[in-house]
Amino acid sequence: MLLAARGTDNSLHERDNMQWVSLLLLAGLCSLSRAQYEEDTHWWFHYLRNQQSTYYDPYDPYPYEPYEPYPYGGEEGPAYAYGSPPPPEPRDCPQECDCPPNFPTAMYCDNRNLKYLPFVPSRMKYVYFQNNQISSIQEGVFDNATGLLWIALHGNQIISDKVPDGLPSALEQLYLEHNNVYSVPDSYFRGSPKLLYVRLSHNSLTNNGLASNTFNSSSLLELDLSYNQLQKIPPVNTNLENLYLQGNRINEFSISSFCTVVDVMNFSKLQVLRLDGNEIKRSAMPPDAPLCLRLASLIEI
Ligand SMILES: *[C@@H]1O[C@H](CO)[C@@H](O)[C@H](O)[C@H]1NC(C)=O
Ligand SMILES: *[C@@H]1O[C@H](CO)[C@@H](O)[C@H](O)[C@H]1NC(C)=O
Ligand SMILES: *[C@@H]1O[C@H](CO)[C@@H](O)[C@H](O)[C@H]1NC(C)=O
Repeated sequence: MLLAARGTDNSLHERDNMQWVSLLLLAGLCSLSRAQYEEDTHWWFHYLRNQQSTYYDPYDPYPYEPYEPYPYGGEEGPAYAYGSPPPPEPRDCPQECDCPPNFPTAMYCDNRNLKYLPFVPSRMKYVYFQNNQISSIQEGVFDNATGLLWIALHGNQIISDKVPDGLPSALEQLYLEHNNVYSVPDSYFRGSPKLLYVRLSHNSLTNNGLASNTFNSSSLLELDLSYNQLQKIPPVNTNLENLYLQGNRINEFSISSFCTVVDVMNFSKLQVLRLDGNEIKRSAMPPDAPLCLRLASLIEI
């Protein structure tokens, strides 16, 4: 999907794939700030006010942005023929968000100074809350949206994970980069057994804030922890394929973070490991690293 393509970027690092992905995200997910958010004292009001339908502008370019997630072909095509009047926005759409009628499983609430998350209606699969001023996630906002696949929360002020009962069980992608997260508990990702991509770059993570198995989730394919304050490589599952740790303070190459057992049958599926911009040298690589990381095609130190 998103990560299948590769491109160049303008940063110092020539192959900074994550940077590129971030650029793509910023380019695609950023939208014009249109709905001006009105100050409210409590998030709950946002939910209560959701009952009114809002005017849908057919000339709004927003629903046709290139980054629009139509990942599964014809599953959700336009609900009306081009040229006919569009149906009104569904009544369950929170007032401060946009729910394009022709893409009924997406909700756009990005770039509008939100301080609280609105309640997510049950039909949603893709929700965009990026570039707001959200500092915590209230209990229950995702409770009805059991089919949520993507949550975009990057570019907010989230201090730590404040999702009490974890994340939706169908979740595949979680974007939390550019927040202030310093700690993630042991079981945080356990309720989402289909989680593939987690992006937590540019936060305040330290090893003290992580449990030993926080990121040891067998479904994860890609984990971005770059630009945090980690001093050690956190333990990850052998199924992980891409691990981004550049721009931390890592000072040792602990092979046990990748392989608890190393032999002919037990090894890591890691392909890309970024450790540049840390406090280790290439000579810190232990002799058994090639055996454990035998599928790696890129290790940058
Ligand atoms: C959540 O789902 C329950 C059960 O279907 C329903 O009664 C409730 O109204 C829903 N809540 C919201 C805020 O949509
Ligand atoms: C990850 O968890 C599995 C059990 O699910 C365990 O066997 C493995 O040793 C753990 N990996 C690391 C690096 O701690
Ligand atoms: C090592 O590999 C064997 C054979 O595939 C497997 O049965 C065993 O569980 C693996 N051990 C660990 C710790 O992953």
